[in-house]
Amino acid sequence: MKTSLQPNKKLSVSKKYSRDDWASAYSNVEKELDSVALKLVKGKVPKGLSGTFYRNGPGQLERGGQWVHHPFDGDGMITSLEFSNGKINFSNRFIRTKEYLAESKANKFLYRGVFGTQKPGGQLSNAFDVRLKNIANTNVIKFGDELLALWEASSPYSINPKTLETNGLSNLNGVLKPTEAFSAHPRFDPGHHNEKRMVTFGVKTGPKSTLRLMEFGMEDNNVGSILSDRKDSFGGFAFLHDFAITKNWAIFLQNAISFNPIPFLIGKKGAAQCLSSDSKAKPKFWLIPRDSGVHANKPPLIIDAPGGFVFHHLNAFEANNEIILDSIYYNDFPTIEPGQDFKNIDFDLLPEGILKRCVIDINKKSFQLDELSKQCCEFAMVNPSKQGLQAKFGWMAVAENELGNGPLQGIKKINLFDKTSITWSAGHRGFVNEPLMVPNPNSEKEDDGWILVVMWNGKREGSDLVILNASDMKEIALLELPIPIPYGLHGSWAAN
Ligand code: FE2
Repeated sequence: MKTSLQPNKKLSVSKKYSRDDWASAYSNVEKELDSVALKLVKGKVPKGLSGTFYRNGPGQLERGGQWVHHPFDGDGMITSLEFSNGKINFSNRFIRTKEYLAESKANKFLYRGVFGTQKPGGQLSNAFDVRLKNIANTNVIKFGDELLALWEASSPYSINPKTLETNGLSNLNGVLKPTEAFSAHPRFDPGHHNEKRMVTFGVKTGPKSTLRLMEFGMEDNNVGSILSDRKDSFGGFAFLHDFAITKNWAIFLQNAISFNPIPFLIGKKGAAQCLSSDSKAKPKFWLIPRDSGVHANKPPLIIDAPGGFVFHHLNAFEANNEIILDSIYYNDFPTIEPGQDFKNIDFDLLPEGILKRCVIDINKKSFQLDELSKQCCEFAMVNPSKQGLQAKFGWMAVAENELGNGPLQGIKKINLFDKTSITWSAGHRGFVNEPLMVPNPNSEKEDDGWILVVMWNGKREGSDLVILNASDMKEIALLELPIPIPYGLHGSWAAN
């Protein structure tokens, strides 16, 4: 592993990664462990890190000899890394969804996956089966005294944060109707209205889409209570994975995308494989006033948005009559077609994610788009205290090379004011997951803290945890996880 390139120093072209190394991360997780100490390989775990790093992601990728068509169809498994006094303990548990239990018993897929996994038996046995399998695999957050395992098309699963046992589907104390959609991307308002809040949403889509925006208390006296709740309807199909917040707005980007359900209905494709970029559709920003803000109770603003496809936003902030929104844009919707093997994908043929800044003028109802970085990236975040405010720094996973697509092999700290950056590289046999920025609780400095990354070590075919200094991106510690974990999706930090 090599560390710390200098700001603006041109990245040297890496020894090219091997796709076999990258793909070796994909296997079933065979064990569930309780509080096993990580093996320290180098460095020292900072004593200031006190809390638990939770991650969610697909842990079951094959059943009865059949592989999922896309890793996003794998059943969710929670990993917990508990930091205390310079030591880290590992635990992991599958989420016992109704569907996971039934498929484990049958040792085969009984449900179709949204991303193209089919039940055995060919097209006939899949046609007209439109049941959704809640795989609870996208994110995990601490919410009061429980964890919520999130999957955006249905309700969250409640998990015990200590034992990781599954409590069951949650309706959040009656807020959600049975199996109501609940996003996997809540945003945490650090206190724009004098208290911490969780702001999140659910979408019901079709020819018309209805978006429910919800704000929940996060303080000791109101954790879990719903503080505001509004519904707005918009014309057209919507695929909304993420959003951003400012003090007064919740900001959504409705990609120019269309959904043709026929191949799904007749059993040829998964629902997400029926999405495609639509040159006739017009991408739109939906700016929904937050009930706690100055535009409360007003209708949403709808403003033209740039083309391309966005899964994830970095952050947003307000400046006079403008909203500045940083997001990762793809030229097209990336999909894995029937017949393709996800472990053999050609990165060069897939669009890469590029971090761009969109300045939205609310009065003129116009926008301007500029690149923040040319490097292929995903999974970007700011210091959580800057959520909804202008942040100077962002951290994100990047491909090794400066241009073009590739697997994520480094973590980049970007200065959003001047676009300079520092990158830590996992080396040509290392592949990273989403980086998590944990601020130093004893500091006000925006980049004082740590970056936690679970990575795939292709050399030993195992998973490692890397701790970086968030300021200079130097490696502080490297530890081995006791079992291999496939690439995951999102995670969070719960401080002690
Ligand atoms: Fe996501």
